Formats: sequence, structure tokens, C-alpha cells
Amino acid sequence: MSDREIISTFKYVSRMRSEFMLSELRDYLKEDSSVEKIHKTLKPHLFDLGCNLFTQGDDYRVIRGQPCRKLELSEEEIKKNEVFFNSAGVSRKLERFIEQYIEKKTSKDWDDPVVMEKIRKAIRTQKTVYWKEGDSRNISYEKGYSILAYMAYQLPVYFIQFQYLLYDMAKNGLLKTRMKILDVGSGPGTIPLAVTDMYNRLDGHNAEINAIELFEENIEAYNYLVPQYAAVKSNVMVHEPIKEDITGIDIEKLPDSIDLMVFSNVLNELKELDIQQKAELVSKMANKLSDDGNIIIIEPADKSNSTELRRLSILLKKMGVRIYSPCSFIWSAECSLEVCWSFEHKKDIRPTRLMQKLAECDEPYRYMNTDIKYSYAIHRKDTLAKQDVTVPPKARFARMSKIDTHNKKRINVIGAVMSEDIGDEKYKLYRICDGTSKKAVYAVLPSHNINEDNEVIIRTVYGSIIKIYNVLVRYNETNDSYNLLIGKGTSIELLPDTEVN
Ligand SMILES: C[S@@+](CC[C@H](N)C(=O)[O-])C[C@H]1O[C@@H](n2cnc3c(N)ncnc32)[C@H](O)[C@@H]1O
Repeated sequence: MSDREIISTFKYVSRMRSEFMLSELRDYLKEDSSVEKIHKTLKPHLFDLGCNLFTQGDDYRVIRGQPCRKLELSEEEIKKNEVFFNSAGVSRKLERFIEQYIEKKTSKDWDDPVVMEKIRKAIRTQKTVYWKEGDSRNISYEKGYSILAYMAYQLPVYFIQFQYLLYDMAKNGLLKTRMKILDVGSGPGTIPLAVTDMYNRLDGHNAEINAIELFEENIEAYNYLVPQYAAVKSNVMVHEPIKEDITGIDIEKLPDSIDLMVFSNVLNELKELDIQQKAELVSKMANKLSDDGNIIIIEPADKSNSTELRRLSILLKKMGVRIYSPCSFIWSAECSLEVCWSFEHKKDIRPTRLMQKLAECDEPYRYMNTDIKYSYAIHRKDTLAKQDVTVPPKARFARMSKIDTHNKKRINVIGAVMSEDIGDEKYKLYRICDGTSKKAVYAVLPSHNINEDNEVIIRTVYGSIIKIYNVLVRYNETNDSYNLLIGKGTSIELLPDTEVN
């Protein structure tokens, strides 16, 4: 019996009945077939067929899903997520799965001193290679212990940071009630695990996750962790990763109409591609995106990776894969800033039990990784932007591209706050950008000048748009940048509808 016959029979039955057992399909098929064969044939298509499947003994219960629409968070869902982010960390259940995987791979207790020492060594090696640049930066995922080290040291922060981004997307109306996700360079499954974790705090919305990964050791870890974690609550359907090198990927092998494509900490590892080729790869893969789908690229916040991400993002924009966030193009101009270092910073995560165990040694700080700092860009094929603010050409604001002509003068500017406070106790310092800057621009607020007219800048979140009136421009020769010195007479307004801390 052909796969087509099984699929068309399934379509027929699921149109007639909103709920049935998969074994019942056999009554409608011309030839006898096992439930397992029917399941295997249908699994890749179920999500597109709008149905969800729940294991029930040797059989499966099929339930027709809700029609796909924009996901709107309920008050209850918001509350659950706010509680979670208040003290974000890896769930106990996932911690146990990771510990059990260590036991499976080493045939020893997860906290056996010999195992701990080997993971510490692998973490040290991984960190040394990670911060190298050029050809010597050869990060390997071929040895078992390098994966265990990744799971112990990197995964917890990447797992939480992705949830911040996903939650933000949900709040901004970018998610749907049925999401088809593709995770590129999935490693041991950080992103599918993060999606599952957040979907556990949502009510009845569905996601299907496809993944691509090159290394067998990562795929093995993925296949151990991801299906088990997703099985806790069955609203996330996961598929085995496609084992492929993405640099030569035939996009026809990828699913169609992807709602969210994720490149989390992976593009910086494609040494064989230059930045133009990376942008071409992402742009090619964007053909598989649904019309209102999103691509999210995440990289570490260090200067080299972060600035490369901004360049890549601008190249993508030029190729027609537009920027949704965090950059805003207030003057509808092209960005020409050569070096743009901008990242998001969130509260530290709770360390895992594994991290704490690894830190029980002479140099604990080497094994604790709880800092959440990341650079990201969200791209789309349509024109939707997070901050859709455009200024009429004659508005009484100076463009940052012309800031050199205003040195030592007082001006009004409008721009996005592109950093948290990166100053010190005496001076608060924020990166400001209006999408035209040729040199970096910072807003400087001396603590003795803080008053009710300007203090709103302290409460802005990453990407908020503000209007600054009557601010003094000063060229900073040491950094070849411009400072906007906020005085007592400077007033700052936050654009309406902008989130504040
Ligand atoms: C730093 S890890 C990121 C894993 C995961 N996305 C995360 O954020 O934790 C980079 C991943 O990309 C994978 N990778 C590197 N080059 C690749 C390639 N050419 N094709 C497919 N995967 C690749 C690596 O094997 C590794 O799993």
C-alpha cells in the first residue's frame, strides 16, 4: 500500500472526526497495515495535516488541532512566564536527563570525581579554542566529552537566553498557535529543549521542531534529550535531526513554510564561509520561510562575534531579508556603521546542580557560566518591524550621520537605546542609534544631572526609541565616537507603546 493512500485516507478520516485512534484507520484502508507503519508514514506530515498525536499504549490518539492563528498570551500565561524569568534556570527534570545522559555515556555516576575532572578539562579546552580567532578557532564536537562539557557549561545559558527571545516574540505577536520551527546547527538540542520548556508554560499551543546538525555525537545527545523532554507534555512534536552540513545544504530537503528558523551560535562556527557567503546561505534558506515567518540569528556578545552579526544582518537587509529587530531605521536610511557592538543583557540564571558540582574545585569560577549576554537579529521577508517609527524628513531632530556638524552644540535627536547602562557609578552610558550613524554615539547621563525630565532613559529596555531634547554634542577623540551629554535642562521622552523596565 502506498504512502499516498495512507495520507489521503488519514485526511478523509480526520475531516470527518475530530478525534480517533490511529488503529481505526485500518478499517478504511484497502490493505491491512500495522499501526507502526501507519504512524511512520504519517509522522512527517501530521503537523501540516493539522493534527496532534498522543501515545496511548500501543496505539495513538489523534486529535484535530485548533486552526492556526496568531498566538496571544493569556494573563495566566504571562504570569507563569514572568515568574519563570524572575529566577530563570534549567528545570530539575531537564537537569536529570542531562545527568542521566552523562551516566549513559560514561557508565559511571554523573558526579563521579573522574567524570567531573574530564568534563572540567573539556570545558577548559573548549573555552580556549572558543576565544581564538581565525584558522586556529577549530571547535570540535566529535568527542563525547566535548558534548558533555557543552551541556554542562554552554547549554544552560543558551537555553534560557532563547526563551527570553521566544517570549519577547510571543509578546510582540510574532508567534502562531501552530509553529513550524527549523533549528539549524542544533547541537545537543538547546533550542528544541528551550521551545519545549516555554511551551510547557503555554496552554495548548503546538510546535513542530525540525533540526539540522553535522556531528554524530551531537545528534546522539539530541536524540536522548529532546524526545524525552518533549514527551513530558505532548504539544511539541520533534523530529530526528537531519544530518547535513548546512554550508552545502540542498534546501529542497527542508520542510516548506517554516514559521521560525533559528541559527543559535552557529554561523560564527562556519569558518569555511566568509560573511557574504553566510548571508547568501541565510538568504537562500529564507526561501523556505512562510510569508510571515521569522529568522532569528543569535551570537555571543563578545566584540568580534557581535560586530560580525551586525554586518551580516545589514547584508541580509540589502538582500531583501529585512530586519524586524533590534535595529530601527528611523530615517529610512542605510546603516553605514562599520563597527557596531550591541547586545542584550539579562539577569544571571540559576546554576545547575552539575555546574555547582564542577565548581567544587580550586578554581570554581572557570566552570560557572550564568551570565546572559547575547547579540541577536530577527529578520523577515515582509516589512514588519518591531519599532515602526519613521520621522518626517523635516522633523526638528538631527540625524546622527550629521552629528560631526553639531559638535559642541545643543541638538534634539531621536534614536533607539542599543545597550543597557554600560557606564559607572558617576556616569550612566547608553549606546544610541538612529540607523544613520557613521560613528558610535553614546548618551551620557552624569548622576548629578538625573531629574524627572531625563530619568526615563534609565528605565528603557534594549531597542526602545527615545526623543532627546536639548542635549550637548561632544566628540570623544580617544574612542572616535560622539557623546550626547545629558544635562539638567535635557528632556527625554519615550515613544508611546514602548516597553519600560
Ligand atoms: C555552538 S553550537 C550551538 C548549538 C545550539 N544551536 C545552541 O545554541 O546551543 C554550534 C553547532 O553547530 C553545529 N555545526 C557547526 N558547523 C556546522 C555545519 N557546517 N553544518 C551543520 N551543523 C554545524 C555544531 O556541530 C554545533 O552543534
